[in-house]
Amino acid sequence: MIPWKLLDKARVPDGGGELCLHCRGQEFSIRVDGVELMNSRSHGSEDALADLACQGIANRPAPRVLVGGLGMGFTLAAALARLPPDGLVVVAEISPAVVAWNRGPLAELAGRPLENPRVRVREEDVGRVLLENPGAFDAILLDVDNGPGGLSRKANNALYGKAGIARAFSALSPGGVFAIWSAAPDPAFAGRLGQGGFSVREVRVRARSGSKGGRHVVWIAKREK
Ligand SMILES: C[S@@+](CC[C@H](N)C(=O)[O-])C[C@H]1O[C@@H](n2cnc3c(N)ncnc32)[C@H](O)[C@@H]1O
Repeated sequence: MIPWKLLDKARVPDGGGELCLHCRGQEFSIRVDGVELMNSRSHGSEDALADLACQGIANRPAPRVLVGGLGMGFTLAAALARLPPDGLVVVAEISPAVVAWNRGPLAELAGRPLENPRVRVREEDVGRVLLENPGAFDAILLDVDNGPGGLSRKANNALYGKAGIARAFSALSPGGVFAIWSAAPDPAFAGRLGQGGFSVREVRVRARSGSKGGRHVVWIAKREK
């Protein structure tokens, strides 16, 4: 077994945990305070997050999509693949180190999506991008923790409460889609999405594409008006 090697580390801004980038052979892992946030061998559900969200909006003229956060770029790359040539993707990533890793050792994993001219990078909290852009997005794809709870930073808890859900609602255009990735079901969070004015579909998706492995959860929450 090849041992893991630490390539780099950085603290998540605004009181977050310690992010570490590890590799062994061709495999990469991003961990926060020792807990794996993302592994390069398993991105079926991260791709599905983009597939499911973009299905509902790909026919719109010049669709605008917000991806938060970047991780290893798989959700971003899948969104780019699903959107028309006039589509635009804003990616909000709170850690400048993660952006640098995606321009360096992680760049090839998802096919260098940051170099795509349809991508705009915002090195900041996705919550702030939501607040500053009312009605701006046709879809919001959220994968910043391992589910609706602040793992990368405690302050992320605010994204999943009533006020955070209202913020996502306001940042969407009518009929827009708020899609959220999670490692496991969370009925209370799904309930809050419904109370926030969304119609909610919970989809179980394979962790790895085509495999018989475990399943993750994607909520597709549609803003009806
Ligand atoms: C699980 S990874 C995302 C994986 C990604 N979907 C992919 O396909 O590789 C979570 C990412 O969100 C970032 N992040 C955490 N909190 C954030 C926040 N509040 N705003 C923006 N990015 C955040 C982390 O630094 C990390 O890069």
